[in-house]
Amino acid sequence: MNEQVPVTDTATAVKAVPTLPDAQTVTEVKHWTDRLFSFRVTRPASLRFRSGEFVMIGLMGDVMPNGKQKPLLRAYSIASPSWDEELEFYSIKVPDGPLTSRLQHIQVGDEIILRPKPVGTLVHDALLPGKRLYFFSTGTGFAPFASLLREPETYENYDEVIITHTCREVGELEYGRKLIEDLKADEMMQELIGVENLNKIRYYPTTTREQSPKMGRITDLIKSGELFADLGIPALNPETDRGMVCGSLAFNNDIKDILEEAGLNEGANSEPGEFVIEKAFVGEGV
Ligand SMILES: Cc1cc2nc3c(=O)[nH]c(=O)nc-3n(C[C@H](O)[C@H](O)[C@H](O)COP(=O)(O)OP(=O)(O)OC[C@H]3O[C@@H](n4cnc5c(N)ncnc54)[C@H](O)[C@@H]3O)c2cc1C
Ligand SMILES: NC(=O)c1ccc[n+]([C@@H]2O[C@H](COP(=O)([O-])OP(=O)(O)OC[C@H]3O[C@@H](n4cnc5c(N)ncnc54)[C@H](OP(=O)(O)O)[C@@H]3O)[C@@H](O)[C@H]2O)c1
Repeated sequence: MNEQVPVTDTATAVKAVPTLPDAQTVTEVKHWTDRLFSFRVTRPASLRFRSGEFVMIGLMGDVMPNGKQKPLLRAYSIASPSWDEELEFYSIKVPDGPLTSRLQHIQVGDEIILRPKPVGTLVHDALLPGKRLYFFSTGTGFAPFASLLREPETYENYDEVIITHTCREVGELEYGRKLIEDLKADEMMQELIGVENLNKIRYYPTTTREQSPKMGRITDLIKSGELFADLGIPALNPETDRGMVCGSLAFNNDIKDILEEAGLNEGANSEPGEFVIEKAFVGEGV
C-alpha cells in the first residue's frame, strides 16, 4: 500500500525550509497558450514596489563541472498590483530559452528565486498629470499593465485609461481580456477602485496574423486615425494625453516616434514627462 502524506504537511514543509537563495513558493500556475503562461508566488515580507516595476526572477542553473550551481535570472515585470499579498508574473515559453524552457514546467509548491530589488520606468511618478492615460502593449508587454490596471492610483488622475494590446493570434490576448473582464466584475475590486473608475477602462485588443474583430498593428491604427475614430476621442495631444509603452524594441521605437511626432516628451523617474517606455524583452542580436 502507498504511504499517505497529508497535503497540508507537505505544503508547510516546502514553505518552512527554503532550499534556494531568495526562494519563493509557487502558489498558482495557469497555461494560456502553448507559448504563454502566468503564475503566482509568495511575496517576501520585505518587498515594497510601485505597480509597473520589474524584478529579477529565476531558477538554479545546471550543476557546473566544479559541482557548484549559479542562479539563472531574468527580468520580469510584476503583473500583480503593489497591494497584493502575492506576486503574479505573465511569461513567455521560449522552447530553447535557458530559463523559460524550464520555468514553464513549474508547479504549485515548487520554488523560484526572486531578487527583491524592484526597478523600472513604467510608474506613475514618471508621468506628468493628464486627462487620458494610454497603455500601449504587444505580447507579454501586457504584464506591467496587468499590475497598473489593478492599482487605484491609475484612475485618480485620469478621465480615461486606454489599454491597447496587439498580438499575432487571438489566444494570446486571453490573459489580458480575462483580467479586464474579471477586474470589472469583481466586487472587491469594485470597492477598492470604484465602479466609476473601472468604467474609465477602454480596452482595445488587436491581432495581426489571425482574424479577430479588430485587425492590425496599433501603430498603423494610430497613423490612420482608426484608433481614435473607434474610441470616439481626439488624436494624441501633449496637453491631455500620457502614455506608457511596453513591447519589443522595434515596437517601442515605432511608438516612440509616433508619440514624439504628436509632441509628447519622454519622461523618467528623475524627470516626469508625457510618456515612458520599457522593453518587454531583449530580442536576438539586440
Ligand atoms: C525589463 C524587462 C522585463 C521583462 N518582463 C518580462 C515578463 O514580464 N514576461 C516575460 O515573459 N518576459 C519578460 N522579459 C523577458 C525575460 O527577461 C526573458 O527574456 C524571458 O523570460 C526568456 O528567458 P529565456 O532565458 O528562456 O530566454 P532568453 O535567452 O532570455 O531569450 C531568448 C529569445 O526569446 C525571445 N524572447 C524572450 N522573452 C520574450 C518575451 N517575453 N516575448 C517574446 N519573445 C521573447 C527573444 O527573441 C530572445 O532573444 C522581460 C525583459 C526585460 C528586459
Ligand atoms: N507569436 C507567435 O505565435 C510566435 C510563434 C513562434 C515563435 N515566435 C517568436 O517569438 C518572438 C516574439 O514573438 P511575439 O509574437 O511574442 O512578439 P512580436 O514579434 O513582437 O509581435 C507581437 C505583436 O506586435 C506586433 N508588432 C511587432 N513589431 C511591431 C512594430 N514595430 N510596430 C507595431 N507592432 C508590432 C506584431 O505584429 P506582426 O504580426 O505584424 O509582426 C504582433 O502582433 C519572435 O522572435 C517570434 O519569431 C512567435
